[in-house]
Amino acid sequence: MRGRITAELARARSRTSLLTEVVDDADLMRQHSPLMSPLVWDLAHVGNQEELWLVRDVGGREPVRCDIDELYDAFKQPRRDRPTLPLLRPAEARAYLGTVRDKVHDLLDAVTFGDRPLVADGFAFGMIVQHEQQHDETMLATHQLRSGPAVLHAPPPPEPPAPVGGEVLVPARPFTMGTDTDPWALDNERPAHRVDLPAYVIDATPVTNGQYEAFIADGGYTDPRWWSPAGWAHRLREELSAPMHWRRDGDGWSYRRFGRWERVRADEPVVHVCWHEAQAYASWAGKRLPTEAEWEKAARWDPATGRSRRYPWGDGDPTDAHANLGQRHLRPAPVGAYPAGVSPLGVHQLIGDVWEWTSTTFRGHPGFTAFPYREYSEVFFGDDHRVLRGGSFGTDRSACRGTFRNWDYPIRRQIFSGFRCARDARPDESHR
Ligand SMILES: [Fe+2]
Repeated sequence: MRGRITAELARARSRTSLLTEVVDDADLMRQHSPLMSPLVWDLAHVGNQEELWLVRDVGGREPVRCDIDELYDAFKQPRRDRPTLPLLRPAEARAYLGTVRDKVHDLLDAVTFGDRPLVADGFAFGMIVQHEQQHDETMLATHQLRSGPAVLHAPPPPEPPAPVGGEVLVPARPFTMGTDTDPWALDNERPAHRVDLPAYVIDATPVTNGQYEAFIADGGYTDPRWWSPAGWAHRLREELSAPMHWRRDGDGWSYRRFGRWERVRADEPVVHVCWHEAQAYASWAGKRLPTEAEWEKAARWDPATGRSRRYPWGDGDPTDAHANLGQRHLRPAPVGAYPAGVSPLGVHQLIGDVWEWTSTTFRGHPGFTAFPYREYSEVFFGDDHRVLRGGSFGTDRSACRGTFRNWDYPIRRQIFSGFRCARDARPDESHR
């Protein structure tokens, strides 16, 4: 346990360092979009949360810097205001993170896992690892919004060995949603509970750029028929006409990726679309977005045993062959690129590549208990947020499981968000 925690903490920190060392101090202090924090805020916030939960709560040690708690409290400081705060300078923030981490290594040597629910199975450490990795994904999204020359580099993802597409029928059988047993699962993934779904059909792959271009070419953005009233009003107000970071390029499109312009690739999952755009595409295609339960059943249910597994491919942690995770590549992989990650029913790329919007609003599972604090997820429950599932190319494997739940406002698209479609099964399909 200690070895695993040490390795995961180090892996998260090397990613944080990479994301904050490739730009200069002025860039770290700058706000690249009102939707995002200056990178230096995320940096010190990561250290502050580690101090609050591990140094002070788990370790019972003296505070390192209690004078900065308020500055780095995400609830007290809206993102748009963060550049005006008296933030720690980059060198000061790095030194602070180092001091906190030294104390964490020290207390990790002495901690007994199992004394308290907070440290059972190393939970608090797992929570902090996931927190840092989630901010790393947020910082990656900030990099995507930054102007100026490219500073991040990565090899392209693998090519698909064979084309994939079409739909998959998921038969009507109850399945187990959520988890009681995954030790680092967060409160909103618990408890495990039975969900009975009628038969449905889900796309074998995320919706691709090529499919999405057909929606644009067919006038999808100018026909209110496909949009919800709120979605149409948002489309008009924001003058949406294509995914974020796209521009017309001759008779096709180009997108800007981390400072480089490239032609849009037709077989890549579409990314940087908001929930409203996903919903409009689905109605245009004669389909709908999957519910969250439909997404999870497609990702975890094994028809041979009736069991829900941790991932589409089984219970084992993701490897490079299973999914496009962890910023190894700076883009979603073409559909079909991860045959080893396919679900038993034949659904591809549920994990990694792009977060997938679902039709479901964010709520607790039946029997939900907030842990270790209400602000982790309970305060976000309600109709304002839609659930996204599966993680993106920018999500680390420690913060991604078949049960992992993300949520955001339906207008957001600076995140690495895409989607796939679903529909009810027809009677002739469901009785096959
Ligand atoms: Fe945070």
